[in-house]
Amino acid sequence: MAQALAHLIPADVLIRAATYARDYRNEIHPISASASATALRERFCLPLADDGYPGARVIDELIAAAEPGLVGNTDPNFYAWVMGGSNLVGVAADWITAAWGQNAAIYQSSPAAAIAEEAVEAWLLELLDLPRDSSVGFVSGATTAAFVGLAAARGEVLRRCGHDFAALGLQGAPVVHIFLSDDAHVTNFMALRQLGFGDTNIHRLPSNDDGLMRPEDLADAVARYEGPKIIVAQAGHINSGGFEPLERIAAIARMHDAWMHVDGAFGLWARATESKKGLTVGAELADSWSVDGHKWLQVPYGSGFAIVRNQNTHRGAMQKTAGYLNVDDEDGRNPSDYTPGLSRRAMGFAVWAVIRSLGRKGVAALVDRHCDAAAYLAERIIRVEGLSILNKVELNQIVIGCHDRKNEHRKILGIAERLNAQQSQFVKTAEWKGRTVLRLSVTSQDSDISHAKHLADMIEELWPLIDAPI
Ligand SMILES: Cc1ncc(COP(=O)(O)O)c(C=O)c1O
Repeated sequence: MAQALAHLIPADVLIRAATYARDYRNEIHPISASASATALRERFCLPLADDGYPGARVIDELIAAAEPGLVGNTDPNFYAWVMGGSNLVGVAADWITAAWGQNAAIYQSSPAAAIAEEAVEAWLLELLDLPRDSSVGFVSGATTAAFVGLAAARGEVLRRCGHDFAALGLQGAPVVHIFLSDDAHVTNFMALRQLGFGDTNIHRLPSNDDGLMRPEDLADAVARYEGPKIIVAQAGHINSGGFEPLERIAAIARMHDAWMHVDGAFGLWARATESKKGLTVGAELADSWSVDGHKWLQVPYGSGFAIVRNQNTHRGAMQKTAGYLNVDDEDGRNPSDYTPGLSRRAMGFAVWAVIRSLGRKGVAALVDRHCDAAAYLAERIIRVEGLSILNKVELNQIVIGCHDRKNEHRKILGIAERLNAQQSQFVKTAEWKGRTVLRLSVTSQDSDISHAKHLADMIEELWPLIDAPI
């Protein structure tokens, strides 16, 4: 039993935070930020104080400064981006993680954190039905996960061509050719740039209406080049939610000894369901995968998974060794062997808590509920005169355009503005394939068909008024 250190504990701060957080999540708040950047600066950008302030006052100040600038990700009527709604069991676990102050760098700096990650690694591989001996790096999101997967890819495809990346870096290395859709998520291009690749070795293949590359184009492009190759495939396009034909892409990769990475930031969660798993067939054949915890799984923000089929290759790309980071043979895995950073938050605890609280059925039900809501919305919207659905709605994403192409930009911005002015839902538009579209993502934790019905009612009511002044 731990001894109390009551005289040292500013319990009022923690209780204040917990009470506030509970109330915040029980109340209805504006779904979009009400304060301007100037107003927020006035609250946050205070002169640096010489002396500190009592903790409870600071927390009150923080709440007052931030609240008008908060966005309603946790509201079930939030459709603006593919974002999660911070599962409360995960929030509680995340608080305790912070209170424990663990550094999940090496096994010895937090054995509990290391073993929790080991447990979650096994659960994730089971839920996503990926090769069970793959390794998982717990990172801050899918961007970093792509960086890790593609770093592993770079080392391995160069090794196969006789180039030792660890010894020589990219100096004198054969050109690595990388193939992906020209409409792949922007963060893949960013990760590739960080890894030393540029526009001449990144082959952007023309995308179809759902933003996906065609396997015939991929096969032709890959056959045109010699040397090391990496293919980045999409499982869940950021706008359309679409999946590339992963099985065919895997066959092309295998034929050309190319590494196949799958960006499945949110779409790979389809594998946790019976109903949608078919969309992802072939994903299991890839060499690495990037997946988010903070989107569909609803882990509080700062949670992603870099999954690599070959653990040695994964470690080869990320492992750091130093005399003071000693490891015992008896120890469990070093969390930082699989991530770019050394010192790091013990990210496994919150994921452990969320998966434990949802269970296999809960994860599947979450994804199914959102997909059902999206399908319902699409059915209603297709019947609204003047609007059209531009993507194949198979997952959680709906992209809406307007028949009147000449006025599409104005009308789509107009319907978004009218919907958001109600403050009962939050939507966003996007520029995509030369069009201005209303882009709805159903991923916020509590969204269901009742919320979709409300949004469909609102669209039906407001769209006919689109030419009237607001
Ligand atoms: C398909 C896809 N890939 C990658 C990312 C980047 O993920 P993150 O923002 O978690 O780094 C996103 C984010 O929306 C995404 O939807």
